[in-house]
Amino acid sequence: MVVLSTSPVCNQTACNAVGIPVIDLSRPRPDVSRIIVEACKEFGFFKVINHGVSKTLMEQMENTAGEFFSLPAQEKEKAGPPTPLGYGVRNIGFNGDVGELEYLLLHANPSFIHHKAKVISKEPSFFSYVVNEYVGAARHLSCEILDMLAEGLKLRNTKAFSTLLSDLESDSLLRINHYPPWNKNNNLSLNGNKCGSTRIGFGEHSDPQIISVLRSNDVEGLQILMSDPGGNSVWAPVAPDPDAFFINVGDLLQAMTNGRLLSVRHRAMANSHEARQSIIFFGAPPLHSLISPLPDMVSPADPRKYNPFTWSEYKKTMYQLRLSHSRLDLFQADEPQENNSLD
Ligand code: OGA
Ligand code: NI
Repeated sequence: MVVLSTSPVCNQTACNAVGIPVIDLSRPRPDVSRIIVEACKEFGFFKVINHGVSKTLMEQMENTAGEFFSLPAQEKEKAGPPTPLGYGVRNIGFNGDVGELEYLLLHANPSFIHHKAKVISKEPSFFSYVVNEYVGAARHLSCEILDMLAEGLKLRNTKAFSTLLSDLESDSLLRINHYPPWNKNNNLSLNGNKCGSTRIGFGEHSDPQIISVLRSNDVEGLQILMSDPGGNSVWAPVAPDPDAFFINVGDLLQAMTNGRLLSVRHRAMANSHEARQSIIFFGAPPLHSLISPLPDMVSPADPRKYNPFTWSEYKKTMYQLRLSHSRLDLFQADEPQENNSLD
């Protein structure tokens, strides 16, 4: 059953309360599969509860991330400039995008984490233990969700998505974002409306990978782009829930499902008075994987919408574009020519 939760109405233009699907993973598997497919088709986004990840691990990861951000700037800079992995402040990517945040972007590979831990933390073995456990849990949850998605889509190969993430060469990442309050003296704006005192923390974009698993502290900020009943695009605030995970469909899942599932556009706002922290696992295939609409998703009535490409090619294209670019459009298959004659 999809339980609808509403977020408080935000009185900025084009920012509305909308229901976000909440999926209880302890329900019978066929029901969950069906609801996940519905949520990914309609929103490309949903929240999961009863997900099986221990609260202790979620808190340990939260505290470990918080400890890193509380270090002096020169200590944090030892984690390296964001190229793209490393520690970044305000600058996102290589093309001039900026936001009100600092972040740490890590490869999810255990040996990468193990090596980086030495320059990130004064307790490297505890840091790599916590981050590796968390990444393991987020990867496992992603694979479970992807398998149920494949079952719901009636794919013959129900591991078609998850094998890409469980591959030893998977290019999955872990991003930890910290949005410090940009004006600690400003409790709330005059009319008490929190939305009046926000700035762009992480600008509008879709996640390029297959699936993203986000967890944040109890501070609002995440918004997803949705259509209202009149067909207009609106930014829908997502109420924070530190006990839950929020799942995004990424560009590659949209491509592999031939456009059936939507890669959701989203952004994060930073507010003037409270720090927000979010931790996102991005589930990705190996760099050399060839991404293409799956045969089960293509038929004469539903011709192939995207050309095949490798994840490495997709990343290269992405690095040349602004954050908000709808980059998957560049990989759309050409319209079939109705008339090929040369006369
Ligand atoms: C991201 C992202 C949102 C957030 O890092 O891709 O969408 O809440 N972050 O930090
Ligand atoms: Ni994102």
